[in-house]
Amino acid sequence: MDFRVKAGSKLTGEVQLPGDKSISHRSIMCSALAEGTTTINNFLAGEDCLATLDAFSKMGVNINRTDNKVVVQGVGLNGLKKPDSDLYLGNSGTSMRLMSGILSGQSFSTVLTGDSSLSSRPMERIISPLKLMGSDISSSDEGKPPIEIQPSPGLNSLSYDLPIASAQIKSCLMFAGLYANGPVAVTEHLRTRNHTELMFQQFGIEVEVNELGKAREITVIPPKSILATDINVPSDFSSASFFILAALITPESELLIKNVGINKTRVGFLHALRHMGANIELQNEINSFEPTADILVKTSDLKGISLNTALVANMIDEMPAFFIAAALAEGITKVKDAKELRAKESDRLQAMSEVLQAFGVKSHLNGDGIVINGLGKDGLFKSSEINSYGDHRIAMASSIASLRAEGETTIIDCHNVNTSFPNFIDVSREVGINIVEI
Ligand code: S3P
Repeated sequence: MDFRVKAGSKLTGEVQLPGDKSISHRSIMCSALAEGTTTINNFLAGEDCLATLDAFSKMGVNINRTDNKVVVQGVGLNGLKKPDSDLYLGNSGTSMRLMSGILSGQSFSTVLTGDSSLSSRPMERIISPLKLMGSDISSSDEGKPPIEIQPSPGLNSLSYDLPIASAQIKSCLMFAGLYANGPVAVTEHLRTRNHTELMFQQFGIEVEVNELGKAREITVIPPKSILATDINVPSDFSSASFFILAALITPESELLIKNVGINKTRVGFLHALRHMGANIELQNEINSFEPTADILVKTSDLKGISLNTALVANMIDEMPAFFIAAALAEGITKVKDAKELRAKESDRLQAMSEVLQAFGVKSHLNGDGIVINGLGKDGLFKSSEINSYGDHRIAMASSIASLRAEGETTIIDCHNVNTSFPNFIDVSREVGINIVEI
């Protein structure tokens, strides 16, 4: 599936975006392991979260979904059943890494597989600490999926220093901690998204968070049982980032994005854009278990910046959109310490440098970052054909960039937009973007 986008102007109105992907995954996992019934509202019915939902259905959890409302009859911590087949997790690294923690604590064996992108992603990062806990887990020789997990005599407590800033590794170990014979403590030196911490607390699981200067130690105390609770999933800030970008770079725009999750560990993109001169206002802030706000964005003249490396972990999924903002800013933008981008659904540093080149923007790629020469406020991208490499975020960032191209742009291989933002085309058209699926 490809997208075709015409250059645009004046994006206006109010939009409501789908639910948060990270929080939707975690809500299924926790509710499946809880005692009792959980209702999840605004669940993201994208392919990634549906892969998690299907996997738990295959392990005997009764899950009823009507559109974005999901009702889960929890089976308790020890109530999962051996699935009849391998668990296919599509494109979803979050499903595979977090579920490996849960499955390490089961008394049955499982095999986790994925599509070609997921099958090339690194899994040693979770396998090695899970083995330290006593998990009998293995992967291909190169540390890639499929992952096979055999029952182990039991999981031990662990104290682990995260070598990579990754919420997926942290969360994998926290989920394994539910089955450990003592506390599991994970120390992170850069703060990554804390949705697992917040979701665990919501389900009554004891989580201690110790601030250690810039670092933070998160300890899960293994619970006897988990209590069901209802969950309202906020709209996904990562999906919002594409519309924030769209309103910023398109002349005479003013767009209100409603009820978006603004968890502090997720909004590095807002800080970076404001540093570039973006006019973005938060309205109607609500402090529930995951804080939300409406985001008002107006067209802005942006200037290049040296991105504060402390922000990288908190805007890791927004980097493709950020690179487009940088490409239309006045002056040079420098990004470093962003090597993790190479381990995402595609090598996003490489893919985005190719996107920028196709759009006629000069950039210089290095091992862990990129330097982008912005075209300035009146700059236009060369119309082009863009390869998204089957990566949903490259596809959406390129679609939005096309609003500032000289003419029409085609983005190829966009099917995976369905993994995180199934109604991207409809929402885009609603705010005035001329985009079609071809
Ligand atoms: C996620 C964590 C991040 C992010 C991914 C979702 C999560 O991955 O890129 O889209 O839900 O925990 P890493 O932990 O690999 O950085």
